[in-house]
Amino acid sequence: MATVTAPRRAAAPQIRQTQLFIDGQWVPAKSGKTFETINPATEEVIAQVAEGDAADVELAVRAARKAFDEGPWPRMDARERGRIMMRLCDLIEAEIDELAALESLDNGKPVSDARTGDIPLAIDALRYYAGWADKIHGQTIPVSGNYFCYTRREPVGVAGQIIPWNFPILMVAWKWGPALAAGCTIVMKPAEQTPLTALHMARLAQKAGVPDGVINVVPGFGPTAGAAIVKHPGIDKVAFTGSGETAQIIMRQAADQLKRLTFELGGKSPNIVFADADLAAAAAGAHVGIYLNQGQCCCAGSRLFVEDKIHGEFVERVVEQSKKRRVGDPFDPGTQQGPQVDRAQFDKIMGYIESGKAEGATCAAGGRRVGDRGFFIEPTVFTNVKDEMKIAREEIFGPVLSVLKFSDMEELIRRANATTFGLAAAVWTRDIARAHEVAKRLRAGTVWVNCYDVFDAAAPFGGFKQSGFGRELGERGLDSYLETKTVTVSLDPPGA
Ligand code: NAI
Ligand code: MG
Repeated sequence: MATVTAPRRAAAPQIRQTQLFIDGQWVPAKSGKTFETINPATEEVIAQVAEGDAADVELAVRAARKAFDEGPWPRMDARERGRIMMRLCDLIEAEIDELAALESLDNGKPVSDARTGDIPLAIDALRYYAGWADKIHGQTIPVSGNYFCYTRREPVGVAGQIIPWNFPILMVAWKWGPALAAGCTIVMKPAEQTPLTALHMARLAQKAGVPDGVINVVPGFGPTAGAAIVKHPGIDKVAFTGSGETAQIIMRQAADQLKRLTFELGGKSPNIVFADADLAAAAAGAHVGIYLNQGQCCCAGSRLFVEDKIHGEFVERVVEQSKKRRVGDPFDPGTQQGPQVDRAQFDKIMGYIESGKAEGATCAAGGRRVGDRGFFIEPTVFTNVKDEMKIAREEIFGPVLSVLKFSDMEELIRRANATTFGLAAAVWTRDIARAHEVAKRLRAGTVWVNCYDVFDAAAPFGGFKQSGFGRELGERGLDSYLETKTVTVSLDPPGA
């Protein structure tokens, strides 16, 4: 049984902004509408937030367009852009406790996770890209004939950025970082479940000296505010993180205008443990791999492949650790797992747990709701899972692990790759040749060897197959915010 501490009302941080941020101003929605954002630990309303729709997106795009077409941001000394971004990072650092509390309140993640994980990673990403601002340059190209040919790297324009609720601040940083460094301007829609920290970040960006109109934040719902961003002809590029279903809608809607798109979508990532691995480390990796962020990670190691020779013993370790995981009040510093983000996610996950039981898998740990208030779910482990079961094929996005047994390498590679997703994977072994072979043969954008969930702002992240396209982070992450212009100059003397 997971240790449970009763959810209590969080020590609420001050909520400074609930309006839309457009052209450097805090404004209500044109319609006057607001929506509730909920504390998932208590199911209580935290705040009413202005609900943007197409009319507000129109204003935001106009502001972003003007800031891009006429404003200082893309034209200023690139080094100054970098300095402003660095200043933003200092301001985030100065308010890290307040931001962590706000993130935890809105999303439900343990405040200690936000304080030591999400926000430091967000600062890292912004600092990393601040460093890129004055290092974006083209090439000279030795073309045939009497020509001088060079390329320029120019900002793509106004970026529409639609982000999910699982890592609200971190997604803001991953999206703003490369866009700002490149000289783009931004219309962002945070997720309706977690709008508060993106608004707080907009306030800090303004304080750091980001000019009006460069960053606009319009909270609202997908089919209204989100779709308006996707369809607006004033938006040059859409960067989206979320579900494959929504990505398909966005791709269809963006087709008319051939908008540039980058997608970071879901996964069903294989986490592979060979018999020769350091089993204690692998078990700890399996635990973090599935349970980090309440299991609400696109790269969650939700298919745990265990070599048959060690299956029994290894599963015992995993089950034992799951039962010890501390679920409860996100504001308790000892808490490891908070609630799922909302009722819809809670219901979806409980549905998958039922389907696992109905399809004949063994529920070896967890499987139930925790308490009767807030969206808490026990860390859950299914054994005797077959590849065809729903819990082995579909993204659950919750604290539910499916354990699968394998006996040989060829079979393993085939099964690990037998998924429409391809975001991440991990392999645990002491055999270095085998580690590299598996890393090469897995069809996934990230492969971790003897570790899991190791992220770095300098290392690209993104999906193969239906886990998306384009990459975030690293130099590759900048590419999708830049156009390449080729300039060819005749060197023939005039009149020759
Ligand atoms: P979603 O993909 O519907 O929402 C993500 C963002 O897209 C939100 O800001 C939402 O308002 C916006 N959106 C929704 N419909 C839109 C539309 N028609 N046009 C433009 N924007 C739109 O994801 P949702 O419904 O929150 O979660 C459903 C499932 O998606 C989860 O259970 C999980 O499996 C997956 N998911 C994956 C994430 C990832 O990091 N890859 C993040 C969030 C969800
Ligand atoms: Mg949705």
